[in-house]
Amino acid sequence: MTFTGRVLAIAAAAALAALPFGAVAQDNTIKVGVIAAFSGPFAAYGEQIEGGMKAYMKQHGDTVAGKKVELITRDTKGPAPEVAKRLAQELITRDHVQFLAGFGLTPNAMAVAPVVSEAKVPMVISNAATSSITTKSPYITRVSMTIPQIAEPLAQWALKNGIKQVYTAVADYGPGIDAETQFTKTFKAGGGQIVGSVRTPLQNPDFSAAIQRIKDAKPQAVFVFLPAGEQGIAFMKGFNERGLAAAGIKLIATGDITDDHVLQAMGDPTLGMITAFHYSAAHKSPENEAFMKAYKAANDSKIGDPNFMAAAGYDTMHVIYEVAKKLNGNIDGDKAMAAIKGMKWMSPRGPVEIDPQTRDIDQTVYIRKVEKVGGKLENVEFDKIPNVKDPGKQG
Ligand code: PHB
Repeated sequence: MTFTGRVLAIAAAAALAALPFGAVAQDNTIKVGVIAAFSGPFAAYGEQIEGGMKAYMKQHGDTVAGKKVELITRDTKGPAPEVAKRLAQELITRDHVQFLAGFGLTPNAMAVAPVVSEAKVPMVISNAATSSITTKSPYITRVSMTIPQIAEPLAQWALKNGIKQVYTAVADYGPGIDAETQFTKTFKAGGGQIVGSVRTPLQNPDFSAAIQRIKDAKPQAVFVFLPAGEQGIAFMKGFNERGLAAAGIKLIATGDITDDHVLQAMGDPTLGMITAFHYSAAHKSPENEAFMKAYKAANDSKIGDPNFMAAAGYDTMHVIYEVAKKLNGNIDGDKAMAAIKGMKWMSPRGPVEIDPQTRDIDQTVYIRKVEKVGGKLENVEFDKIPNVKDPGKQG
C-alpha cells in the first residue's frame, strides 16, 4: 500500500470506529424493532404489546416528525436469551432500527442490554419487570413497572388490614425473586411474619406441591407473583380445588395474576381478590377510554381484551413519538436518552414520569378488588398510592 493509500485506509477506519455500529444514514422511516414472544405459552405477551403499539399508531397516525413509523416484530418464542440477543443484533445491523422495544420477559431484556450499550440504540421495555434491568445499560428505559414498585404498597396494605402472617409463592426467576425479596422486607419491617416461601419454575410449572405446602402451613394469607397468563389460571384453580380458599386462606398478589386479558377465563373464583398494580382496564379516565377505543379499532377482535402489557405497548409508542418530535426525526442514541429522562405524560393508567436517575417509570400504584360489574369481572381500583418510585433501586 502506498503512503497515501495507508493514510486513507487509516482515516476510513477511524471514521468507521467513530460511527457507532447501527448508526447509518437515516431514510424516511423510523424503524422500531419489537422483540417479544409471539408464539408458545407466552404468545399473548407479544400480541398484547404489539396490539397496544398499533392502538397508539391508529390514534396518532403512523407518521411522526415527517417520518413513517414502521414496526418490525421478531418472535423469541418464550424466555430465550440467546435468541433475543441474536434478534437484537440482526435488527440493528441488518434492519437498521432506530429503537428496540417490546420485551415481555426479563431474561430476554437482560440479554439485550450489552447489545444496546455497544450500538447506542435506545431500548424501551414494554413489560419485563425485574428491578435491575435498567441498571444494565444507560440506553434502557422502561414504561411498565418494577415488581418491587408493586410489592411494597401491597405489603403495606396487608399490614394495615390485619394480615400478620404470610406465605410467599413466586416464579423462580428475576421478577419472582424481586417480589419475594421486597414483600418480605416491607412486611417484616412493619411487624409481619413470613411463615414460609416457595418458588415454582418459570417453564411448565406444576403448582400442586406448592399449594399443598401452603395449605399445611395454614398462613393467614399467601402472597403470589406469577407471570401473567396461564400460570395464574392454573394456580387459582389449584388454590380453590385443594380447599385453601374454603380454609379461609386469603390470596393477595401483584396484578399479573388477575391480568385483564385472562380474568374472564379465571371466572368467579377471583371475586374479592385483592391485588396491587399500575394498570386496570377498568381505570376510569378519558385517556383510558381513548386507549380502549383505539385498541379495539386497531386490532382484530381475536386478540381479546387488552391488559397492562397492551397499555405499556401504547406508552412505549408515546415515548418513541415524543423523542422523534424532539429530535426532528433524526434519532441519535444519546440525544434520545436525554429526551426520555424526565418525560412526563398522562398515560391510560394515570400520571407517569420517566425517573431521570433510574430511567424507570414513577407512577401511581392502585389497590384493586375483583368485582362483577355489569356481568363482567373487573379489577376495580379502590385505593391508590401516588408517585411510587422503584424501591428496588434504593439498596
Ligand atoms: C418478567 O419476565 O419480567 C415478567 C413477565 C410477566 C409478568 C411480569 C414480569 O407478568
